[in-house]
Amino acid sequence: MPGETITLQAGQCGNQVGLQYWHQLAQEHGIQPDGTPLAYPIDNSLTYQQEGEELPSTTTKFRDDRPELFYTISDTNKYTPRSILIDLEPSVINKCANQLPMFNPRNIHLSEQGSGAANNWKNGYSYGVEYQEDLLNLIDREMDKCDNLSNFQLIHSVAGGTGSGVGSLLLELLHDRFGNKKLINTFSIFPSNEKTSDVVVQPYNTVLTLKRLIDFSDSSFIFHNDSLNSIENLLLNNYNNSRKTDEVFESTNKLISYVLASVSNPLRFPGYMYSSIESIFSTLIPTPNLKFLTTSIAPFNNSLNEYDMLLELLNDKYKMNRVEQTKYISVLNYIIGQNLDQQEIRKGIIKSQNRIDFVPWTSNSIQLVHGKKSPFIKTNSKLSGIQISNNTSIVPVFNKILRQYDLLAKREAYLNSYVESNDRVERARVLDSFNECRETIASVVDEYKSCQLDSYLDDDILQEDEIM
Ligand code: GTP
Repeated sequence: MPGETITLQAGQCGNQVGLQYWHQLAQEHGIQPDGTPLAYPIDNSLTYQQEGEELPSTTTKFRDDRPELFYTISDTNKYTPRSILIDLEPSVINKCANQLPMFNPRNIHLSEQGSGAANNWKNGYSYGVEYQEDLLNLIDREMDKCDNLSNFQLIHSVAGGTGSGVGSLLLELLHDRFGNKKLINTFSIFPSNEKTSDVVVQPYNTVLTLKRLIDFSDSSFIFHNDSLNSIENLLLNNYNNSRKTDEVFESTNKLISYVLASVSNPLRFPGYMYSSIESIFSTLIPTPNLKFLTTSIAPFNNSLNEYDMLLELLNDKYKMNRVEQTKYISVLNYIIGQNLDQQEIRKGIIKSQNRIDFVPWTSNSIQLVHGKKSPFIKTNSKLSGIQISNNTSIVPVFNKILRQYDLLAKREAYLNSYVESNDRVERARVLDSFNECRETIASVVDEYKSCQLDSYLDDDILQEDEIM
């Protein structure tokens, strides 16, 4: 039985992506900005309609989707996202509340100072520590509204101050309280390599956050802003270089949100497989140390059939963390549509399996979600598709971050904004704690490298034998 998901959206990026995400879910479930549901389209309700029974105009009774996993529904039939919005400055949260009044105002946590975390992980983290009781109260209150909470999902950027620092603290708190009982998943946006100059300390923030993703999450989806920008140009034909950053973000955020929403498609529009988040993650994550997931998106093109779409999902152009020569540990493809052509799917899966370079110890097979299209979405595209995979593309991404970090750390550059006082002992203490994070990340890089060997699982088996 699938359980509910509580979303935590932190910082500018987290809330901007969160806003588009809730727009997307609202569209898929026919929910208006104020939380009022539209009438469920009749065609899809037929299977649930008793003979002679009248279809009401707005009701949940005849729905065969499951919005309640992501929304609470009031006695007056108003839908409210199970989401907590956190930021240290008000502008983005105000935008969220204005565009989607369906958000629960009591689930908003804003700093009274309203000045942001100044792109500094330590500021965000310290703020989180100071206000942890308030944050936990918000989480507890939202949990009380669940019958069978399944997982938490955090949407944030790893590079600023709030999404990274408060986000790290949230992961620690969730892990302390619910680790092993509820899944903790993150959708983590990584900074552009081409535009790092605007925030020189991004490598520090990223390393400190990555350590918490490794220690406290069960899975993390990696989205890379550079790859997102180029997919956005391709898919949405936006080659206008004079667009403002906000416009570019809005468009890339729509892509991220589309993928985020698709991940839970089989939960929200249940079929016969993958109807819980646990089943999705257990397909993708073979060991707790290999838990970084990447995604790709098929082009929105009506001329593609199931076979074409499955092959497009392997196209480097559409990967949200684009790296060539990747080895795959697991692959879960989603084809979302109605009356899917099973023969084309089988052909596409066989062809794709032959093209993918799997690590030697896996079964070399691609798993498939037959997703259902929302009856509220009336686009021309008959089909849509995403791919979630666990692969080695995180190795160059993490290595690059480590190299950028090393350049700063070697000279203790800008360390003064992360220390309590500027004396030598304090600087050494802080640098040691940073280096510890660095080592944890390096060990994950090593894990992803060693998983490419035939002997990857043998070692573990050997150790188990030795123990016995
Ligand atoms: P402070 O601003 O320090 O309070 O922290 P914050 O978490 O609010 O910062 P922010 O979310 O702006 O994080 C900065 C990083 O996120 C940079 O790498 C930005 O390029 C990226 N970023 C910011 N907003 C967005 C967005 O809407 N979409 C995407 N894709 N990236 C964003």
